Amino acid sequence: MLNNTLQTALNNQIKHELYSGYLYLSMAAHFEAANLPGFAVWMKKQGHEEAGHAMKIYGYIHDQGGRVTLQALDGPPTQFGSPLSVFQAAFEHEQKVTGLIRSLYDLASKENDYATQVFLQWFINEQVEEERNASQIVEQLKMIGESGPSLFMINAQLGARA
Ligand code: FEO
Repeated sequence: MLNNTLQTALNNQIKHELYSGYLYLSMAAHFEAANLPGFAVWMKKQGHEEAGHAMKIYGYIHDQGGRVTLQALDGPPTQFGSPLSVFQAAFEHEQKVTGLIRSLYDLASKENDYATQVFLQWFINEQVEEERNASQIVEQLKMIGESGPSLFMINAQLGARA
């Protein structure tokens, strides 16, 4: 059974995960408009993953006899810069999400909620991967630059994301 403090905090995290999905979908739309369809594929897949994260928490709240209450989402930015700046923003966003997950974990510890601590371990591991994925692309873009041939190559690589 979840106490009210954790129920509220987990409901907030659903909002943050859905916002992440919204942000990445907005980045995808930017890449579609910039004729970089591979970059858009990567961002759309990332957006789907975020919706999956939200649904994981949704399921957990109900498994614990709690109640999901959805909140209004802020609008994401709609104007973006170069591919490198977009992936830098994605990396910084993931670092923020990592901080949110850590705070949730701290709260679950403080409330002696062992089940929620175990549940959140999946997210702690997931954030390691989320940060690494975004930062690897940042580093690649820095390494090979953003000239036509480089972008063409990375576009193809990102479009192959499973
Ligand atoms: Fe759900 Fe990208 O963190």
